[in-house]
Amino acid sequence: MASYDEVYSYLERRVDALKTDRTGDERQTEGEVFDKQTLLVIYDMMTGGLIESVHYPISTGKEGNVFYATDEDGEGLALKIFRTSTSTFKRISGYIEGDPRFKGVTGNRRKMIYAWTNKEYRNLQRYFEADIPVPEPIAFDKNCLLMEFIGDDNGPSPQLKDVILEDPTDMYDEVLSFIIDGYRDAHLVHGDLSEYNVLVQDGQPVLIDCGQAMTADFHNARDLLERDIRNVNRFFGNRGAEIIDAAKVLEETINGSDDDDGEDEE
Ligand SMILES: Nc1ncnc2c1ncn2[C@@H]1O[C@H](COP(=O)(O)OP(=O)(O)OP(=O)(O)O)[C@@H](O)[C@H]1O
Ligand SMILES: [Mg+2]
Repeated sequence: MASYDEVYSYLERRVDALKTDRTGDERQTEGEVFDKQTLLVIYDMMTGGLIESVHYPISTGKEGNVFYATDEDGEGLALKIFRTSTSTFKRISGYIEGDPRFKGVTGNRRKMIYAWTNKEYRNLQRYFEADIPVPEPIAFDKNCLLMEFIGDDNGPSPQLKDVILEDPTDMYDEVLSFIIDGYRDAHLVHGDLSEYNVLVQDGQPVLIDCGQAMTADFHNARDLLERDIRNVNRFFGNRGAEIIDAAKVLEETINGSDDDDGEDEE
């Protein structure tokens, strides 16, 4: 195993965010973003051939950051790094404890945040396998999640809230299908579906931020589902789309009244 100094100098060459003066204030900020554990995970992902370089931050938030990275072929990647802070822990613990897939994971803050990272990875995988447009999950380790980059040569795709919609009803139908097909085919309820968590790539919506998604058998799934539907209806209603009544969508999602109902169950 390489020494920490060796690891650090290796990373300094390939992680743009670390190419700062080692003594300046900036370094301290970076130190906060990448704690030692996180640096080691990034190092493993690089030496394991998953990542070639980490470039700029796409998004910096209270609970984590998303970085633009590239692989050996220059293909874009998104590296989402969760902060192992108390505030993150507080927000997520209910979602972990209530999820039968993570039975027995309680208490320890780090363990819980690692489980959360694993949960987002598994949710993405489930959506991806059910053909719901999400970034393809690539790998996860501790608090780091590596996935397909949604964007193009000009940068990341914009959030739905920032896009001018040529045909709001058409986009509404697409996003609504994430809720309905997500429930029926992936057996998931997203739970935070809004104009912030949908990116628009080449005019097509892509669902992101799937950490809090719960399996359809979760005791509160119906409430989460209804909230997602109401959120989407509110946003698209304001944008002039033809809205379907929330109660009707909910009923259709849960009990299925579409002609394709049941045909593509696993
Ligand atoms: N795969 C991706 N490709 C391109 N951009 C992404 C990708 N994943 C996330 N982003 C960008 O990063 C932002 C934050 O990601 P995400 O919504 O998953 O995290 P979050 O937990 O909501 O973070 P925050 O609370 O800081 O908003 C997104 O709004 C999006 O702009
Ligand atoms: Mg988000």
